Amino acid sequence: MMFFLFIIFLQFITSSHSKAIIKNLPGFDGDLPFTLQTGYIGMGEDDSMQVFYYLVESQRSPSDDPLLLYLTGGPGTSTLYSFLYQIGPLSFNYESSKGNNITLELNPYSWSKATNVIFVDLPVGVGFSYAKTWEASRSGDSILALQSYEFLRKWLVKNPRFMNNPLYISGISYMGIVVPNVALEIYNGNERGNQPQLNIKGCLIVNPLTDKYVNFNARFEFAHRLALISDDIYESTKATCGGNYVYNDPGNMLCADNLKRVDECTSKINFANILEPVSDARDMEPTWKTYTDTFIETWANNKDVQKALNVREGIIKKWEITNMSIKYKLKKNDTVYYSYDVWSSIPSHKKLLSKKCQVLIICGDHDMVFPYVGTIKWIRTLNLPIESPWEPWFVRSQVAGYQVTYAQSGSSIKFATIKGGGHPLAKYNPEEALVMMDGWLASHAYLSDS
Ligand SMILES: *[C@@H]1O[C@H](CO)[C@@H](O)[C@H](O)[C@H]1NC(C)=O
Ligand SMILES: *[C@@H]1O[C@H](CO)[C@@H](O)[C@H](O)[C@H]1NC(C)=O
Ligand SMILES: *[C@@H]1O[C@H](CO)[C@@H](O)[C@H](O)[C@H]1NC(C)=O
Repeated sequence: MMFFLFIIFLQFITSSHSKAIIKNLPGFDGDLPFTLQTGYIGMGEDDSMQVFYYLVESQRSPSDDPLLLYLTGGPGTSTLYSFLYQIGPLSFNYESSKGNNITLELNPYSWSKATNVIFVDLPVGVGFSYAKTWEASRSGDSILALQSYEFLRKWLVKNPRFMNNPLYISGISYMGIVVPNVALEIYNGNERGNQPQLNIKGCLIVNPLTDKYVNFNARFEFAHRLALISDDIYESTKATCGGNYVYNDPGNMLCADNLKRVDECTSKINFANILEPVSDARDMEPTWKTYTDTFIETWANNKDVQKALNVREGIIKKWEITNMSIKYKLKKNDTVYYSYDVWSSIPSHKKLLSKKCQVLIICGDHDMVFPYVGTIKWIRTLNLPIESPWEPWFVRSQVAGYQVTYAQSGSSIKFATIKGGGHPLAKYNPEEALVMMDGWLASHAYLSDS
């Protein structure tokens, strides 16, 4: 009897604590001037997956503005990283934060200025999301798309006032492999008559990995375009490696020798933004530019912070920016936790072309992790008619980058660069990223009622 009461009590606790509005956060003085909701969505058999999310409501018009699901890269990187370093409403105050005393300030370029954003820790094992069984802890590229769809359906059932907002799936970096598949699952689910029907309009992808051949190989072309390797090295490498600089045949000695020269020229470059120094952030005075893990790790592991965020006590032993057993790196094999089973999402992009899906791809043109060169390359293979040709776009009358839009039977793909931008795009160029995102969403506002 006692045992059953206990179970009922536990269920009561979990359900009553599964969603909350956060008024204050340690490190930020006063009430938060935006609406932040956090919580868990139970998924899978017996809710064996507990998926943590942060919803930041639009600071403009939450009922009219779009709803953006944001997936952080890796896979395996916590969404709190994007929240605090890239597109969220808060960032660290680097001047006044010292040791354990961390202070937060408002990010004037938060995406919540223009849209509602759900930051979600997926797959489980990432950030504050967790699994209750071994089976539930396993994920992969294709499963992640299904899980994201399930998450949205469950979340919208619990938050029905967002059901009619135009829905966009977004993500960065590795999520370029996953985001188009999430969108496709949703369109297909809607067509099958799944309830609830989701009001999906498109995808917004930042510095994406789309194809594990094209995008990794593009680093070589990029190194040439940006003058990191000479014409001479470029030409002899091209001639000996047959267009493949990554999955090359180790028996091809000429190619291997040339690649060694390429490597000498590029291995000391900061791939996240080739103009920035490589640094071991822990040794340096933290600034907004250097990659500082320490603040976020200190803050997110603070018990008061977790309590304020409505995180369940005692489940996550140590919060980490990235779960390294899930994170992908070139040529990595599947692990027990994660299967890297999608090689390319180009086929999904092709399918989305018949769904009236609007796609925006933003690339920092100094990102060498997944250089814009590769993105341009695979978009061109789709052979789409150009709706609006390559042209500069502007922020405060300065060229902020370049853009081109392709369109076909109600679908579109817009490609835009941000000049000087790096891999964590909104960290280096927050204003440009916000202007591009907002302008693009607004240009599709007419679709909202259809
Ligand atoms: C923490 O930092 C803030 C801002 O710099 C300062 O006002 C406050 O006194 C510090 N608190 C402690 C306990 O050091
Ligand atoms: C990484 O993810 C796996 C799979 O969910 C999980 O079992 C493990 O605890 C996670 N590691 C950390 C450090 O959170
Ligand atoms: C991946 O697995 C293959 C086949 O077992 C093996 O040859 C290769 O070395 C593995 N790669 C890595 C990076 O561990």
